[in-house]
Amino acid sequence: MDSVCPDSRRYTGEGEATVTVRTLTGAEAHAAVPGLTEVLLDCVAGGASVSFMAPLDRATAESFWSDVAAGVEQGERILLVAEDREGVLGTVQLVVAQPPNQPHRADLSKMLVHRRGRRRGVGAALMQAAEEAARAAGKTLLVLDTASPDAERLYERSGWVKVGVIPNFALWPEGGFCDTAFFYKALV
Ligand SMILES: CC(C)(COP(=O)(O)OP(=O)(O)OC[C@H]1O[C@@H](n2cnc3c(N)ncnc32)[C@H](O)[C@@H]1OP(=O)(O)O)[C@@H](O)C(=O)NCCC(=O)NCCS
Repeated sequence: MDSVCPDSRRYTGEGEATVTVRTLTGAEAHAAVPGLTEVLLDCVAGGASVSFMAPLDRATAESFWSDVAAGVEQGERILLVAEDREGVLGTVQLVVAQPPNQPHRADLSKMLVHRRGRRRGVGAALMQAAEEAARAAGKTLLVLDTASPDAERLYERSGWVKVGVIPNFALWPEGGFCDTAFFYKALV
């Protein structure tokens, strides 16, 4: 990787190419919009309930990531990416801008790994890096929600506590209600 932030790390799955996880600056986030768009399009096409309905068009996905990049520039979000030689493989965000009475909290959001890179530990590496970034930002409590059993297993492995499930909280990309589980993790 040519420009590597100081907090980046590399790991290599068995028999796999090197993957780098790094936190993006605002400018890097804007530059990463095309790669992030590919990941989001792939996840929605694969049936993930991540705010969008299918079919998700490229312009809507690009607009979403441009808004995220603007949020990074404004210090409202921390955006991490996992990359390999082909580009962005996965991503996760921390929404650090919270109400005045919750300065210690952040929401973990949009944990997405392209189907070409799943089951290699990329999600786990993104989670570890996100938690470290949250600690560095002075956060002591993280919250997230998910409709994905794959994600639930990742979060439970990472020490997150499942609070409960809200039935019919959202829709699947192709339609039909899906339940959503809420998790938290106290950072120590
Ligand atoms: C949830 C998600 C992010 C997980 O990403 P991932 O990169 O596949 O996660 P990991 O590789 O760390 O873990 C996934 C599985 O691979 C296994 N694994 C990790 N490294 C491995 C390796 N080298 N060889 C074989 N298996 C491995 C893990 O043990 C885990 O197993 P399990 O699911 O049976 O418990 C991904 O499935 C995804 O993007 N889903 C769609 C979007 C979504 O719903 N996101 C959640 C929104 S909250």
